Amino acid sequence: MFIQVYQGRQLASKWAKTEALLSERSIVPHIPPTRKYSPGQLYSMLQQHGMVVVKPIVGTGGGGVIKVVRENSGYSHTYRNKTYRVGSFQALAQALRSRTRKRRYLIQKGIHLATVNGRPIDYRVKYVKTHKGWEYRALVGRIAKRGLFVTNLSQGGDLVSASQGIRASLGSAYVKEKKAQMRALTVLSTRVLERKFPGIGQLGFDYGIDRQGKIWIFEVNTRPH
Ligand SMILES: Nc1ncnc2c1ncn2[C@@H]1O[C@H](COP(=O)(O)OP(=O)(O)O)[C@@H](O)[C@H]1O
Ligand SMILES: [Mg+2]
Repeated sequence: MFIQVYQGRQLASKWAKTEALLSERSIVPHIPPTRKYSPGQLYSMLQQHGMVVVKPIVGTGGGGVIKVVRENSGYSHTYRNKTYRVGSFQALAQALRSRTRKRRYLIQKGIHLATVNGRPIDYRVKYVKTHKGWEYRALVGRIAKRGLFVTNLSQGGDLVSASQGIRASLGSAYVKEKKAQMRALTVLSTRVLERKFPGIGQLGFDYGIDRQGKIWIFEVNTRPH
């Protein structure tokens, strides 16, 4: 005998989920500008935003995520805990070609996350559909391991309560408002995603809050931990 736990429809493509969210006007301001990876797009995104994140369209756990920065005298890219500097865009594109060869990637505007003792923090909201409707299961903060820019727990990030995290990174005055905003965005985004992808049953939203307190949606997981 076995028991099957219905987890709901799985959607792996970060691109497809981001596109779906962009169909709702009031969500658009919370999605960092996102493009499919190409050297040309990388160049123009770096001109526009100065910092971008390059990540696999199908990926989890912070694996393969690269931060790229335009600097005074060239470019740098950070992969895991190492930063590599080059003097020209051509050299950057060459370095990234070998890193992005095996999978499809997207480029996203880099968000300057609020930090706790210099370590970036972001938030995970878990939202699950039960017979009574959608319910919150968790709202937590994740603080990046020292030296990393990704906060994933599988990369050594530390878990805190969302309230603790907001208090330590932005200040107590922000706790109530930011939690409420993440909850509201979760409800709205879930409505949009369920309309577009009927059958989804479990969602894990990754929210960044930048140093100005603005909330950004990094991704939505359909197989959240
Ligand atoms: N646009 C971004 N700006 C800044 N940091 C980002 C951005 N996108 C992702 N990150 C960091 O990388 C982590 C992993 O990215 P995410 O999109 O959640 O992919 P994964 O499926 O690998 O978890 C995020 O939790 C966040 O810490
Ligand atoms: Mg994630």
